[in-house]
Amino acid sequence: YEQEKIRNFCIIAHIDHGKSTLADRFLQRCHSVSDRDFKEQMLDSMDIERERGITIKSQAVTIEFNSVDGNTYQLNLVDTPGHVDFSYEVSRAISACEGALLLVDASQGVEAQTLSNMYMALDHDLDIVPVVNKMDLPSADLERVADQIEHDLGLEREMIYPVSAKTGKNVEELIEGLIKWIPSPGGSSENPLKCLIFDSHYDAYRGVVIHIRLFEGTIKAGDEICIMSNNSKYKVEDVGIFKLGLVPQKDLKAGQVGYIIAGIKNISDIRVGDTITLTKNPCEEALSGFREVKPVVFSSVYPVDTNQYEELHAAIDKLKLNDASLIYEKDASAALGFGFRCGFLGLLHLEVIQERLEREFGLNIVLTSPSVRYRITRQDGEVYFLDNPAEYPDPGTIELCEEPFIQADIITPTDYLGSIMTLCMGKRGIQTSMNYLDEKRVEIKFAMPLAEVLFDFYDKLKSISKGYASFDYEVIGFRPTNLVKLDIVINGDRVDALSQLVFKDNAYERGRIVCKKLKQEITRQQFKIPIQAAIGNTVISRETISALRKDVTSKCYGGDISRKRKLLEKQKEGKKRMKMVGNVELPQSAFLAVLKTS
Ligand code: GTP
Repeated sequence: YEQEKIRNFCIIAHIDHGKSTLADRFLQRCHSVSDRDFKEQMLDSMDIERERGITIKSQAVTIEFNSVDGNTYQLNLVDTPGHVDFSYEVSRAISACEGALLLVDASQGVEAQTLSNMYMALDHDLDIVPVVNKMDLPSADLERVADQIEHDLGLEREMIYPVSAKTGKNVEELIEGLIKWIPSPGGSSENPLKCLIFDSHYDAYRGVVIHIRLFEGTIKAGDEICIMSNNSKYKVEDVGIFKLGLVPQKDLKAGQVGYIIAGIKNISDIRVGDTITLTKNPCEEALSGFREVKPVVFSSVYPVDTNQYEELHAAIDKLKLNDASLIYEKDASAALGFGFRCGFLGLLHLEVIQERLEREFGLNIVLTSPSVRYRITRQDGEVYFLDNPAEYPDPGTIELCEEPFIQADIITPTDYLGSIMTLCMGKRGIQTSMNYLDEKRVEIKFAMPLAEVLFDFYDKLKSISKGYASFDYEVIGFRPTNLVKLDIVINGDRVDALSQLVFKDNAYERGRIVCKKLKQEITRQQFKIPIQAAIGNTVISRETISALRKDVTSKCYGGDISRKRKLLEKQKEGKKRMKMVGNVELPQSAFLAVLKTS
């Protein structure tokens, strides 16, 4: 342990600029993995992360590097996710580090999350080393990107390391550079213990593994620790560092990044951002924690087969073990039976959870239309939050209804400015600022209802800007709104799981689109099926699915009963993926169809 030879750093960047690829190169350069064991995106351990090429959870790893100066350095790299849904992970990673490599794609240039991540790093007083990646691309334009880095980010262009994470070019020089520019950690291993919990995960055999950064003191197996926010005490069983696995150490000292295992069974007993100290000789003050992450999108999850309810419960429980940001409670629907109301950080988070439930647990599930959380003030003065359309009260009892607003931060080439402004205004956006970054690029800010960006805003933004505009957002608070509950009535039955809360002026349009989409999704059956959209008792839109004229079994002549049975059997198979609502079969896609806005 030589404190001055430690470097704690993270890589921050806009999504897809190549963080995970660069981290891979570091691991290879430092021989932390043999070429035989090497898989792409080593630090992305979930299948979904690898397949989609996105990082969801931050990961830490300690690598050893022999520098040309003759010393061996201990480099602690904390990988961070790039997508806005997971930006809270970035802030955790940042608080465990002294420096950050700010990665910018050589052909894309500075984008919205490059800026927001850099501000986050500056807030924590990190030293920043600018890196331009993907220099191997024919479209790489170092001069232009260097101008942006100098002008938009205020960093010195002489500091820039141009690299290719793909080919490994200049990566060695970059590592030497970060050792030079990023300071070694402060603190003393003699002081009372002060360490930050920046993450945790659950191991089936060892219980909760706490990821920590030590700021002061020393910790070893056998110590009794105290978690400062709630004064809970545990005995340390093992401490160590991360090297693509847990590697036990005799102790951990000030400045190091590593893990603690202390017989903790329940991940909810550990709060990220909390401070750990020793019961004997505790430190005086806790480190300043993080803003708590709050889910912003809510949806109910139901098993298609009601017998799978317990299985679904177990699966969600299991996912929750490693994802404290996922929240859930029991829910029941007249149409869908028993299920769970879940809260997510954003739509991507929702999709990831949905995919994991289906793939890792083999469950067949239906998700209801996602909703934001509204703040309702009743006429009797009571204030409460509501995210489930099924619980929407009699409008007569409501004094005030407010919805969450975000500040959207968009960077775009000026060519697309006009169509992006039209898009944002169409989503009830109010422009709050416009700033020309150079002659070709502009940064615009809009205050917008979160509910409007939930659905297809991001896709639309990407398509009208040919992929060039980038987008970042943060929730800024509640603003008054005018809400109605839009119900869907299928064949005379009000389907609670298809209800949604919508902005009043948009209700007619939405009702019309939803009916049209449902008509496309629901297969024709033996009888006529009317589909209606209604507000209260007023029907605002209607479509009809005409009856299937021919009986499928009529093809089998006469008495061949076994053939007839086979056909019916086959139909039943197909039905498994359907949800019966009243006497109409709804495919899973029907529940997603209500999200489409055009
Ligand atoms: P998130 O983890 O989702 O935030 O993305 P990321 O920033 O980690 O990006 P990732 O490393 O997954 O790289 C995104 C894409 O860029 C992948 O297809 C990489 O193969 C590619 N890429 C990364 N570095 C380079 C590079 O130096 N040159 C080229 N040509 N492609 C690269």
